[in-house]
Amino acid sequence: MSGYFPREFLTKVRGASDIVEIVSSYVKLRHQGKNEVGLCPFHSEKTPSFTVSREKQLFHCFGCGAGGDVVKFIMLIENLSFYEAVKFLAERCGLRLPAPSKSTDQRDRRKEQLLKVNELALRHFVRNLNQESEGRKGLNYMRERGLSRKTAESFQLGYARSQWDDLYRFLLQQGFKEPTLVDSGLVAKSSQGEGYYDFFRGRLIFPICNSAGRVIGFGGRTIGEEEPKYLNSPETILFNKSWSLFGINLAHQEIRRKNRALLVEGYFDLMTLYQAGFANAVAPLGSSFTEGQAKMLSRYTKNVVINFDPDEGGRRATHRAITTLLTQGFRVQVKSLPEGLDPDAFVQKHGPQGFKEQLDKALPAIDYLMEEAKQMVDLSHPQGKVAALSFVIPFLACIGNQMERVSYVGYLAERFQVEDRAILEELRRAVRGRKSSLGEEITSLKASLKEAEVRLLQILICQPEVREELLPLVDPHCFSQPIGERLLAIIRELHQEGKGVTFDQIFDQLEEGDKSRFTHIALGDNFSWTKGFALECLNTMKRDFLDKEIRKVQQEIEQAETDKAAELDRLLRAKLRLLQQRDAL
Ligand code: UTP
Ligand code: MN
Repeated sequence: MSGYFPREFLTKVRGASDIVEIVSSYVKLRHQGKNEVGLCPFHSEKTPSFTVSREKQLFHCFGCGAGGDVVKFIMLIENLSFYEAVKFLAERCGLRLPAPSKSTDQRDRRKEQLLKVNELALRHFVRNLNQESEGRKGLNYMRERGLSRKTAESFQLGYARSQWDDLYRFLLQQGFKEPTLVDSGLVAKSSQGEGYYDFFRGRLIFPICNSAGRVIGFGGRTIGEEEPKYLNSPETILFNKSWSLFGINLAHQEIRRKNRALLVEGYFDLMTLYQAGFANAVAPLGSSFTEGQAKMLSRYTKNVVINFDPDEGGRRATHRAITTLLTQGFRVQVKSLPEGLDPDAFVQKHGPQGFKEQLDKALPAIDYLMEEAKQMVDLSHPQGKVAALSFVIPFLACIGNQMERVSYVGYLAERFQVEDRAILEELRRAVRGRKSSLGEEITSLKASLKEAEVRLLQILICQPEVREELLPLVDPHCFSQPIGERLLAIIRELHQEGKGVTFDQIFDQLEEGDKSRFTHIALGDNFSWTKGFALECLNTMKRDFLDKEIRKVQQEIEQAETDKAAELDRLLRAKLRLLQQRDAL
């Protein structure tokens, strides 16, 4: 993520952008102890839980969990990407943007090379489909699924032959070297021996493109019964699944024109819809719809119709997508098709007109959820109402805009025939506990690391004189959450490199998802603890860890006893049966 700028430049920008000064131009801050506090700009609150530290150059909101450094603050408040936020700050303090560094250059060249590999591979796949005898299988399959030649051309469909090294040999001939091919994800090194083999074999191939239409990865479907049914390229420096949407290259103009995107689950759903004239559809790649994908879409529209499969998996994926989209300020509608058909099957059966009629019946997400609640519980009972409301309200709480959120209150009250006040109160509670505006994990300390673990980490970070002695004693397995182990590893590494363990050094090395949890720890308290206290923390952690292990073994013992009892029972019955048979003689 920080690959765009050289480290020194980032350090310079951060150094020249005092977080307190910058936050102050958006939020009214006042002193409180070592920190500054104010009302959080990222959620609505009446008592300040938004905390900024001049010393650590970090912020954290103990209400909604948002947190980070000055760049993150600008990203959130100005709604900018990382790159744009750094640029924004650089301009603000009069720093000139550096020319692309050598390493950036190298990375760009590497990407360009992999794009080239993908392009040639695609040509090869397309040629296989249309000219090779084995490609006929692919063409037949396409035809069976109702796709025309023209659609196949629009999507640049191809075919990977079932041979182990067809593509590998072709790409070698084109002058690429093995390491490059492996980096592209199209070729893998065999785990034994020296050989290489094609990642996709005997599959219909769909190139996955970025919005500019360049091929960043591939998907492949079996045309027989092999598992898995679909395979996607592994992650590469070009291809990050949570930042890619199948079909975006063909759909983005239409999405902008219609000011609406259609979100479907599968490759075939998308292609069939496109062929039927619904060219504003996109599909996530197997995994659930991500925040990154929502960000991509938001460049083109803020309106999405979710049209996932009408099965249990689709229903749950719909819930997650609603949450992600509402959190990012989208207006969301949902259509779940009748007869248990996915969009592909539905269009094949009822044609474009039938599908259009269904789309016109798409419900606003909140109404869809209420309908769903109605199916699950009996609304004429007070308990049913409570259950339905507690199902719907957390979704409502994702809506960032307070006016919009509250506008639903009267509506829900009427539908459920309860008082506005009751709903408003529930909603407030849900908003207080909701995920932060970036959809990061709620960072309640209790829900994540335990008190002793947090203290220990604070001591390791802030008290160098204790750190040296303490570090060898800490067992990474004793943390109750993986973030503890990750933080410890970073602290260890910084300590060993002798670079000094500072907040911004740690912050930089954390993954996105960990950052606001870290700011929570970093700004959680004013701390200066003794070594004795640290050792106590360690002991508490070890005890908790051992307790957990003991519980695990105890469970295994109980299981073994149950198993034994069952086995004994089985043997006794067998013996009884034999005795009966003998006595019957
Ligand atoms: P489905 O199994 O619903 O796909 O999975 P589909 O499009 O309806 O499949 P067919 O071709 O009509 O039988 C939906 C999506 O989930 C991903 C693919 O992106 C697929 O389009 N998926 C599914 C995988 O990545 N791997 C799998 O094994 C299955
Ligand atoms: Mn499907």
